Amino acid sequence: MNIIFIGFMGSGKSSIGEALAKKLKHNLLETDALVLAQSGRNSIKEIFSRDGELRFREMEIAIAKKLGEEKNAVISTGGGMIINKICVDYLKQSGIVIYLCTSFEEITKRLEGDKTRPLFKDRLDAKKLFQFRIKLYREYADITVKTNTLSVDEIINIILKKI
Ligand code: S3P
Repeated sequence: MNIIFIGFMGSGKSSIGEALAKKLKHNLLETDALVLAQSGRNSIKEIFSRDGELRFREMEIAIAKKLGEEKNAVISTGGGMIINKICVDYLKQSGIVIYLCTSFEEITKRLEGDKTRPLFKDRLDAKKLFQFRIKLYREYADITVKTNTLSVDEIINIILKKI
């Protein structure tokens, strides 16, 4: 069974995914890294600026389809993976979905000064995106973990008890 992390940008999907993969001795697969590798671009930002968000989402769908065939991996997804339900359907074929739930205020603190995320340039736009997506994260989650005040180790322990 795979363990799939979903959640907004800055919710800790990569760092918690990495720590959990290490603990379980599972492979860590990151959808952003896989999309980037197949894009021929140097960064996610460059994919957005040169190819457009739609192309990025198409690549995400192709990657989600492939990941649906994986076994025993920890999968950390990009924050927008859930906007195309087909991605969630592919990923759920082989795994359990964990939503890392972090408040917008906490995310704003964590992403202050970040220049790598094309969809977190303007705070108000990002907040609208957050409010829209939160319903989807909740709907698709098998397990939800509130992460605001917890350390990576505490979050991992909660996850290990729940899975
Ligand atoms: C995105 C989140 C990013 C990355 C891309 C789009 C989004 O991943 O996939 O910039 O739509 O929320 P992280 O959630 O790892 O920042």
